[in-house]
Amino acid sequence: MTKKILLGVTSGIAIYKVLELCSRLVKAGYEIEVIMTENATKMISPLVFETISRGKVHTDMFHSGHHEEVEHIEMAKRADLFLIAPTTVNTLAKIANGIGDNLLTSTALAYDKTIILALSANTKMIENPVTKENIKKLQDRNFEFINSKSGMLACNTVGNGRLAEPEEIFERVEDYFVKKDLKGKNIIVTAGPTREAVDPVRYITNRSSGKMGFAIAKKAFQRGANVTLIYGDCKVKLPYGTENIKITYNDELKSEIDKRFDNTDCLIMAAAPCDFRVEKYSKDKIKTKNSLTLNLVENEDILKYFGMKKKKQIIIGFAAETFDLYENATKKLKSKNCDYIIANDVSSSTSGFDVDDNKASIISKEESIELPLMPKIVLADEILNLI
Ligand code: CTP
Repeated sequence: MTKKILLGVTSGIAIYKVLELCSRLVKAGYEIEVIMTENATKMISPLVFETISRGKVHTDMFHSGHHEEVEHIEMAKRADLFLIAPTTVNTLAKIANGIGDNLLTSTALAYDKTIILALSANTKMIENPVTKENIKKLQDRNFEFINSKSGMLACNTVGNGRLAEPEEIFERVEDYFVKKDLKGKNIIVTAGPTREAVDPVRYITNRSSGKMGFAIAKKAFQRGANVTLIYGDCKVKLPYGTENIKITYNDELKSEIDKRFDNTDCLIMAAAPCDFRVEKYSKDKIKTKNSLTLNLVENEDILKYFGMKKKKQIIIGFAAETFDLYENATKKLKSKNCDYIIANDVSSSTSGFDVDDNKASIISKEESIELPLMPKIVLADEILNLI
């Protein structure tokens, strides 16, 4: 069923970003109804919002020929989500103190589901203790916040106060409608490659992009889990809402997991730690010569270490294979004491490394399920369903 969003627009200078947000929401299939404050209409004409939102734009509570007094109660009833972007500190203060002096604030008073407030203001106004108190008050109730960001502000200063980008606000709306079936679960997801240094300027690594792990972390957060994402050198955009920890080497990866392991419900090991390290690290740069032989020795298997250590934890490992996928993955399931192995054939160019799709099989002691080729973000949900 189409989700209905009530979009409240106040007179922050970042109002221009909300047009882009509105357009994205419409394209994604949401039905939008807009309420603008009177000051907001001085910045952008309601006609622009009407055209972009393809819905009604309400502005005035008391104009003849309309019955907006009743309308604000009706709007509050029919919306699935009330989003206010930008939210000025003035509107924030009114809502926090139960003031309904215009159509937007009185609709907020009449709304009994979650309201998401995307804040924006000058740094001093955002950091004013009164604003902080108002935020605190609403956090304890049915309100969620999209915090303002730091950067160059319209008042020509650099600081906290910028409205979050339309993409982030859009994602928060999408998240809101995802069922929170992993609420209360603590999940560690590892992603991307690690490195092993050869000398001060060279290292060995592998082709892992981190896309699979990042997709799992993002989805796990959407589904309500407390997520720690421990990741190597990746070019993928970091998810928000997760605790993100950057590592470089295998021992850092292991120790970051170890710090949290006792308190973890599930470890998903999508990272590709280096299997080998050089036997002897050269502290001086190795000089160029005709040929060079590096002697590599095996690294500790981190997944196996935690497989042996596990008590209540569910452990999900990956297996990147180029042949005998099922046999090799089943061996890894046993030798590393995992609950599940997600096995990929990485020899295909349409799935596996550095692409957005993946074709995987889920292997457990009981069964093996072969999944079709699908976007990594969809596979992420399949993997999380195991928890
Ligand atoms: N893994 C690990 N520590 C390592 C190597 C791998 O924790 N030193 C984990 C990976 O994160 C993955 C799983 O083990 O979840 C399987 O990794 P993969 O590279 O497929 O297999 P390997 O165990 O390295 O075995 P092989 O390279 O022989 O296939």
